[in-house]
Amino acid sequence: MVKGGFIIVIDKEKWHERAKEEVQKHPERKEAFTTSSSIPIDRVYLPEKVDGSYEELGFPGEYPYTRGIRRTMYRGRFWTMRQYAGFGSADETNKRFKYLLEQGQTGLSVAFDLPTQIGYDSDDPMSLGEVGKVGVAIDTLKDMEILFDGISLDQVSTSMTINAPASVLLAMYIVVAEKQGVAMNKIQGTIQNDILKEYIARGTYIFPPKPSMRLITDIFAYCTEHTPKFNTISISGYHIREAGSTAVQELAFTLSNAMAYVDAALEAGLDIDKFAPRLAFFFNGHNQFFEEIAKFRAARRMWAKIMKEKYGAKKEKSMQLRFHTQVAGSTLTAQQPDNNIVRVALQALAAVLGGTQSLHTNAKDEALALPTEESARIALRTQQIIAHETGVADTIDPLGGSYYIETLTDQLEQKAQEYMEEITTRGGAVAAVEQQYMQREIHRAAYDTQKKLEREEEIVIGVNRYQLEEEPQPDLLRVDDKLVEAQLDRLQKVKQERIDTEVKEALSALKKAAEGTENLMPFIIEAVRRYASIGEICHTLRDVFGEYE
Ligand code: 3HC
Repeated sequence: MVKGGFIIVIDKEKWHERAKEEVQKHPERKEAFTTSSSIPIDRVYLPEKVDGSYEELGFPGEYPYTRGIRRTMYRGRFWTMRQYAGFGSADETNKRFKYLLEQGQTGLSVAFDLPTQIGYDSDDPMSLGEVGKVGVAIDTLKDMEILFDGISLDQVSTSMTINAPASVLLAMYIVVAEKQGVAMNKIQGTIQNDILKEYIARGTYIFPPKPSMRLITDIFAYCTEHTPKFNTISISGYHIREAGSTAVQELAFTLSNAMAYVDAALEAGLDIDKFAPRLAFFFNGHNQFFEEIAKFRAARRMWAKIMKEKYGAKKEKSMQLRFHTQVAGSTLTAQQPDNNIVRVALQALAAVLGGTQSLHTNAKDEALALPTEESARIALRTQQIIAHETGVADTIDPLGGSYYIETLTDQLEQKAQEYMEEITTRGGAVAAVEQQYMQREIHRAAYDTQKKLEREEEIVIGVNRYQLEEEPQPDLLRVDDKLVEAQLDRLQKVKQERIDTEVKEALSALKKAAEGTENLMPFIIEAVRRYASIGEICHTLRDVFGEYE
């Protein structure tokens, strides 16, 4: 049966013609791509003749982008190897950043400790026991200057996993760049800035939804004007999946959240084709190999259709879903940790076959502790082996056209669509979050998975099958408590050396602006420039916005 009722002849030469300009701008990595038997590898493989359904696939770099967002993909540039890193104090993390860059990683990704993520200073009673534990402690601009000491911010792109106080860390990054003499419009990177998934799955929220959405759209507006190369949000499915959702729920809830951010930006009067090109996404790379590849392909096609058909976006970049993948931390086992190297490699391979733009590979010991230098290196080498030794990056969307992959891509799209219609019926993602709808659906999925494990319907090697009598004891990273004392001393010193009247002025101007409707970014930048701390800034905003209970 010919879907669409007509046969189209694929004109590959015409597509190559259209790709020419992009290839000239971003030449491919190699003169020629061949297999080990010197068989030439085409940029993309297409059927000679297809029925109308091929339009659901499209060419790489063309609407609806199912096969990839660029006409050359990894033949032009590998995905960014971007390892999430951060622990203890800014100088410890600065050393790890430099080590990873020396070992060949191509993007930075900052993990902040919990006090920073929920807007408390290291000396706040709420921070006791958490300073520098799950990420780097950042209290004031001084810490950020140390964090990026010797790293020029016009030479790297930096992701920051920060949500409720995203505006504060972005402000610090902007001022560090300023102090390095790097123009604001040159800085590249991403701020996670996705508060809805914090309410749904991750928990590092501070303010209620309305003021949180205001802070997010203030960042959209400010960055569109001042930091055009900086991605303003990383709409995340990663944590939704880590909380136990299915792949379909990860896809549906992430895209529903994305639509809520677009709606909020439009309500704030922003132009879709101005802010949409800098929306970015972040997905989980989980165990079911083919389902994960199909999930990424369905995500691109769904987002392209939503932006074009629902929101009337005109710019290609507004319709291209660009995403980062972190392979699934929740699949790492504490048992036989070396097995995790295999899990991570297969999950990373699925992300690459699914067309990710940026990738983090977990370290084998992360079910037990933050990665050691050695385990972080193996995680990075995993990506480098996939990129340079397997050939999978030498042609675009190599699994495209597979009966299984295309059927699964369609099915995931269909099932995710059903969830998104339910969320729309409930009033959209913000309302659904307030109704606890998504949370309930995730908990149910997590419960079902746990029951399958207990009934051994699902097998996890080393956990419910092939266990060892005696578990190996790997060397683990220990964060030295002395780092905490050093952090508290540094904060004390900054507070003694700054000019208190200027800090007070900046914080009261921020408070006044928060009580009004002005964009808060300029006020936060000024406060940061005066070495106001993240706690002082967030407490000022708590006084105005209150806290989400
Ligand atoms: N042809 C032409 N141009 C190309 C190309 C090609 N083949 N490949 C890349 N380029 C260009 C791009 O156009 C881009 O330039 P532009 O910005 O001017 O468009 C440049 O090269 C960089 O390419 P990408 O944008 O594809 O790659 P980046 O790595 O810079 O960005 C991203 C990727 C997904 C858009 C971005 O948002 C990103 O880096 N995200 C990372 C998020 C992240 O690391 N999150 C970690 C979270 S950790 C966490 O939350 C888990 C914890 O809680 C446990």
